Amino acid sequence: MRISDPKVLGGLAKLGVQLRPGTSLAELTSLGIGGTTDLLRITKHESIPCLLRLLDDNHIPHKFLGGGSNLLVGDGELSWVVLQLVRPDPEIVLEGNFAHVDAAADLGRTVTYCAKHDLGGMEGLIGVPGTVGGALRMNAGAYGMQIGSYVREVKLYRAAARQIEILRGHQISFEYRHTSFAPDDMMLAVILELPSKPFKEILEGIRICNEKRRSSQPLGQKSAGCIFKNPPGASAGRMIDELGLKTLSVGDARVSDRHANFFVNAGKASANDMLALIADVRGRVHKTYGVELENEVVVWNA
Ligand code: EPU
Repeated sequence: MRISDPKVLGGLAKLGVQLRPGTSLAELTSLGIGGTTDLLRITKHESIPCLLRLLDDNHIPHKFLGGGSNLLVGDGELSWVVLQLVRPDPEIVLEGNFAHVDAAADLGRTVTYCAKHDLGGMEGLIGVPGTVGGALRMNAGAYGMQIGSYVREVKLYRAAARQIEILRGHQISFEYRHTSFAPDDMMLAVILELPSKPFKEILEGIRICNEKRRSSQPLGQKSAGCIFKNPPGASAGRMIDELGLKTLSVGDARVSDRHANFFVNAGKASANDMLALIADVRGRVHKTYGVELENEVVVWNA
């Protein structure tokens, strides 16, 4: 979608929004898949309510993009614009055991920055690509921990109320790869309360997680992490592997030979290739195990 109305363009400029016309989302997602649309980069949280009013008044649909690491975007010219927060400097401010982190901050950098200041707890998230906002929205976790456990406060744009609000940790429910945020809420910033731990000890935890990840996941390849959530008490990766589906392909979309719940873009895979592969694997798992796998990856294909 292209914004061409001078009135809207003027409004964006007034709000300090940076317009990047005709941006390829393939370049903004870890899968390297996705069509083109206008990208609107937000420099001030406070401009968001006015920005969304401007878009709504002019019938311009939008979606919020985080780090693009858990996302499968449709092909071709997209029928909505994409909003993304510009990372502020600094993106993290520490105050005792509290880390004030902007939603646009890189997750890995946040973990290491806190570690260097003797704040631990998030070692398991090292190596998980994406932003802190994205991790928060889906309660990212690995190796027995999840980010939700450390959340004390979240600043967000609540689409339903059309305003920026602050939620305390106890007002949010964090479950396995699921939170009580509405799909159109936009994460803006978070306060994490992290346990004190000596840097050396955290580093050792980080080293162990890195090693486990390197030995079991296709890190150098284009992927969106795990495609499916694990069904209760089971592992989607193990089920797909047991069916002998590693390397199963549709075009250049392929089930990883390293971890069967990672689907990689081995070249020029389209969104349709990836969606067909997802449907095929889901169907086979259902046929054999009677389990309907639920997507973990977020799909923007409408
Ligand atoms: N397994 C296989 N074959 C495979 C993959 C896994 O047999 O191809 C087996 C493993 O040997 C192991 C079991 O399945 O016995 C579980 O595998 P793993 O430890 O890799 O964990 P997972 O359940 O597949 C989850 C998260 C990952 C996270 C790891 C480590 C989900 C959907 N996945 O994977 O998160 O990194 O645990 O904690 O919850 C993600 O969220 O995108 C993601 C990759």
